[in-house]
Amino acid sequence: GSSEAQECDVVVVGAGPAGLMAARTLHAAGLSTIVLEARDRVGGRTWSQEIDGAFLEVGGQWVSPDQTVLLGLLEELGMETFTRHREGANIYLDREGVRHEFTGEMFPAPEQTVTEMQRIIETLDELAASIGPEEPWAHPLARELDTVTFNEWLRRQTQDTAARENIAIFLAGGMLTKPDHAFSALQAVLMAASAGSFSNLVDEDFILDRRVVGGMQSVSEELEARLPAGSVQLSTPVRTIAWHPEGGATVFSDRVTVRARQVILAVPPNLYSRISFEPPLPRLQHQMHQHQSMGLVIKVHAVYDRPFWREQGLSGTGFGPNEICQEVYDNTNHQDSRGTLVGFISDEVADQMFTLSAKERREAILRSLSAYLGDQALTPEVYYESDFGSEEWTRGAYAASFDLGGLSRYGAHQRSAVGPLHWACSDLAAEGYQHVDGALRQGRRAAEDIMHRFAETTDRPAAASDQEEHLDHMEVRHG
Ligand code: FDA
Repeated sequence: GSSEAQECDVVVVGAGPAGLMAARTLHAAGLSTIVLEARDRVGGRTWSQEIDGAFLEVGGQWVSPDQTVLLGLLEELGMETFTRHREGANIYLDREGVRHEFTGEMFPAPEQTVTEMQRIIETLDELAASIGPEEPWAHPLARELDTVTFNEWLRRQTQDTAARENIAIFLAGGMLTKPDHAFSALQAVLMAASAGSFSNLVDEDFILDRRVVGGMQSVSEELEARLPAGSVQLSTPVRTIAWHPEGGATVFSDRVTVRARQVILAVPPNLYSRISFEPPLPRLQHQMHQHQSMGLVIKVHAVYDRPFWREQGLSGTGFGPNEICQEVYDNTNHQDSRGTLVGFISDEVADQMFTLSAKERREAILRSLSAYLGDQALTPEVYYESDFGSEEWTRGAYAASFDLGGLSRYGAHQRSAVGPLHWACSDLAAEGYQHVDGALRQGRRAAEDIMHRFAETTDRPAAASDQEEHLDHMEVRHG
């Protein structure tokens, strides 16, 4: 090759929260680690930007009380959190578009709808408690629940359309960001179990509890700052990994070549096939990785000279299962005199919005915000749509989930290492699934798996000389 290969114990692909937590854990154990990142920044799906003078978190941002690994890390790093503004009445836009103000958790729906919702919430809570987030595929009901769409499962629970829509919004548009006919009831139960219960997901004061002062991306920046200088190499997309089943790999990127004893792929599963593996991955991984796909959501930010809704006694929180923006919240920054709203536009509605021109889309989205909070919402000082669907190194939001039947068919294998190749990202998480907390947990888990492996075999892999020959050959081809 033209440049000398770098050497380390473990190479990590991806400098999102999972990859950086893995590197932190390995470094603390005295193992040398190099992190290769495709983008020119760390943080992955967490990203803070200054847009027209406004500080916006265009990716992941919220912390909930069950996310104890994230909360613990924030404390270790000496980082502060602040609570979301939540005083005042919430808004619910019903099927007919009629606006209702309400306080408390339950939508101001007709009594019969509320009764039906409560019954379904209880059923989902029971399923989440009994199935749990760790191994949903191992539960006796797994196959039955994984072969029915969440939409069909809800139809079997109730005839009440509004009740179904009001429940679906939390798991479909609100979390997996896919239509409720595109994932199974088991996948829905995993989502609920990963946050402790379905009731937790419905409780916006729980799930959207706190934010990080300085933004969630700064967690990744702080992690990077605590690694040895040069550990994280940016603008370095990994293209090819030559690996040996007995251990050892050479990782080829656009800029550097790194030889390592083990590799952690800390990228979402929809991106694994962007990398060429030599030899190819086994059949099981080839198949499994085709059944995990990203959802789609537009996160819209609108910044106003002041949080005008508070003057009207409104919290800024709104739900409307049939609205363009299904959810809206007060997203004002810590100690900011301006007011920021954030809205979410999911799956098929997002598809529709992307058929419009940028100007038409902005108008349609702001009209939806104004249906909740009044005409003042029509004229923000700053407006921004975050669109991870068009980001090459993500391709959707918030995260990946299995298609119908995939979780019970493949789930048991998704975290299993293949030779020296380990997998870590929020998309494979149990607790904290699809969230930053789950990414951190998976990064730490993959690092610990490697530490155990090294502890069991203190010397280099037995086939080291074969391996070197094989990898030298690779370098000639790629160097
Ligand atoms: P992540 O995707 O963050 O990092 C992977 C990294 O790998 C990226 O930096 C990528 O560039 C890199 N990469 C990919 N391919 C590569 C290659 N071939 N070579 C080198 N590098 C490569 N969570 C939460 O807890 N609270 C919230 O409020 C939200 N909200 C939210 C909103 C939006 C709009 C999004 C997009 C996401 C969220 N999330 C969230 C989800 C959260 O952001 C997400 O789960 C974590 O960032 C996932 O972290 P990972 O490290 O697993 O992947």
